[in-house]
Amino acid sequence: PDRDLLIGRLPKCELHIHIEGSLEPEMVFALAQRNNIRLPWDSVEALRRAYAFGSLQDFLDVYYVGMSVLVTEQDFYDLAFAYLRRAHADNVVHVEMFFDPQGHTSRGIAFDTVVNGLSRACAEAREALGIRASLIMCFLRHLDEDDAQRTLDAALAHRDRIVGVGLDSSEHGNPPEKFARVFGRARDAGFQLFAHAGEEGPPAYVWQALDVLGVARIDHGVRAMEDDALVARLARDRVPLTVCPLSNVRLRVVPDLAHHPLRHMLQKDLAVTVNSDDPAYFGGYVNDNFSAVARALDLSPAEIVALARTSFSAAMMSEEERTRAL
Ligand code: ADE
Ligand code: ZN
Repeated sequence: PDRDLLIGRLPKCELHIHIEGSLEPEMVFALAQRNNIRLPWDSVEALRRAYAFGSLQDFLDVYYVGMSVLVTEQDFYDLAFAYLRRAHADNVVHVEMFFDPQGHTSRGIAFDTVVNGLSRACAEAREALGIRASLIMCFLRHLDEDDAQRTLDAALAHRDRIVGVGLDSSEHGNPPEKFARVFGRARDAGFQLFAHAGEEGPPAYVWQALDVLGVARIDHGVRAMEDDALVARLARDRVPLTVCPLSNVRLRVVPDLAHHPLRHMLQKDLAVTVNSDDPAYFGGYVNDNFSAVARALDLSPAEIVALARTSFSAAMMSEEERTRAL
């Protein structure tokens, strides 16, 4: 309770949120009706029952069907604005929002439709709520590099509205090195670089994200703890790790929160942050993630404050913005 008051009061940044993963079941059905989309579930309850995942792939299979209700610019706007309002209620002051353009362009939705809706929500939320938000476009790693290259081509026309590129979707069998060339081009175009690594995949994928892709942050990275040399490298360079505790439980990366490696990560001096990943699917927004992991691991107030502070040092902000936000 005291812990939850502290968590609620702390300003924080959210650095690992897939905007399509904030699509709540009620909104799935409302948008399906608005756009005349047929769904494989006949009620909100049936959809919620589908949220029993045995692995990352189980989740992704539902996630890609869920996002198929997003069609118009207004849909993307509504989705992002609803998330930003919810994040603001959690005292999130800065968001770096992932989106999956290939999950939409593959269904015939124009890249512009997606970016226009999301970026208008970010701009209007800044005005209405004071929350800052920027966009990171992720490549779907189960698709080939040529598909990612075409997606990067489309993004170049929106260079001013997309701050970075990331890498997500099915990790097993899709190592970061598969995307070495497209990440090289993204770097040359001035994008910040991020990648999911070490969620389900092995420590070798985290090494590749660092040394082949040259990313500024690792998304998840919990399996890095299996490799002492990698832990030393992440600590030495203070590479931020965007950890998502409730996601890790729901996708069975860890058996339960009591066994979550977050405390060990802090003990190894890793730059850990706490995030929600896909809050509509995994049972909670960022404060719920803080609260659940703090309770399960008995984190002290000082540790909770440190996690929130690290979210600011890990964020893509100027020193001036950081000083003003804190
Ligand atoms: N896409 C949305 N959420 C994801 C996750 N946790 N891992 C990989 N890809 C994702
Ligand atoms: Zn993720």
